[in-house]
Amino acid sequence: METVLSGIRSTGNLHLGNYFGAIKNFTEMQYNNNCYFFIADYHSLTTHPKPDDLHINVKKVLSEYLACGINPDVATIYVQSDVPEVTELYLLLNMLAYVGELERTTSFKEKVRKQPDNVNAGLLTYAVLMAADILIHNAHKVPVGKDQEQHLEMTRKIARRFNNLYEVNFFNEPEAYNFGKQLVKVPGLDGTGKMGKSEGNGIFLFDSPKEIKSKVMKAVTDTGPTEKNQTKPEVIENLFTIMRLVSEEEIVTFFEEKYNNCEIRYGDLKKQLAEDIIKFTDPIRKKITDIYTNNEYLSKVAKQGAEKARESANRTLKEVKKIIGFRTF
Ligand code: TYM
Repeated sequence: METVLSGIRSTGNLHLGNYFGAIKNFTEMQYNNNCYFFIADYHSLTTHPKPDDLHINVKKVLSEYLACGINPDVATIYVQSDVPEVTELYLLLNMLAYVGELERTTSFKEKVRKQPDNVNAGLLTYAVLMAADILIHNAHKVPVGKDQEQHLEMTRKIARRFNNLYEVNFFNEPEAYNFGKQLVKVPGLDGTGKMGKSEGNGIFLFDSPKEIKSKVMKAVTDTGPTEKNQTKPEVIENLFTIMRLVSEEEIVTFFEEKYNNCEIRYGDLKKQLAEDIIKFTDPIRKKITDIYTNNEYLSKVAKQGAEKARESANRTLKEVKKIIGFRTF
């Protein structure tokens, strides 16, 4: 049985990008693999959240993960900071990651641009902590969206370096969990770039039908096609991309044809898209509040998850330290 690990940073509610990047195939994943789902709260510290928000954010992501259908009795679901073995492995792996290559990662360069007053070392080694998350369970597969492709590549590099340096075949070189040929990039509603937590362009699983409708109706469009079968500009293609994820195939085909014949009315397209997103998120949204307010259940799930995750993490760390040469007196 293969080991699968899925991670989400605790910086806010989950959006459609998170769902389609990391959760979508949870049923298939958890029943056919040894699955770990975790909440990356250490990763969220790079942006210095307020102490009062830290736990609430973890609680939100935990509740939303569970509402999506993760079964804590089948898969292991846990909070990163409950598994201190991860940070020890992170320290060990830092010796195998080179500053130059970390500085060249797209996510680091983007953060330097976005938060020039807070270019902390945690941002630089963000990818190493991610490698530790994955390698602590020696995962084979990691469901991620397109934005995490480079981090996964870095994990493989570090795993390979470890194996080569110590002449072992210990770490697997983890691959993206196969969601299809291409890794998913769910676009935002603002016409450019990916849907993100802090970009103000997202549709969250917890959004009310009214909010979803209002966000979709406000999505950026253009003045419409002027030639039959013309290539769609990015803003329009983005709406179709989201539609392909949540709507029935016939609906997508219907609007594709309308576009190709220059008969499309964006108002109709958006109305349909909003309806289909609402239909899609409805069962999840209904479960979130119930789970979020059930502290007893959440505490039981987190404890159980931490125990199971620590067992696996301990096993890996012990072996890694032995390989490196640590011995007890
Ligand atoms: P985060 O929290 O930004 O995103 C969590 C997961 O959602 C995916 N995702 C998307 N996929 C498609 N389209 C989008 N617009 C979109 N936005 C987000 C991400 O690719 C990711 O799979 N560093 C990670 C968290 C993490 C992690 C790990 C993930 C820490 N350690 C180990 C996997 C394995 C992050 O910030 O993801």
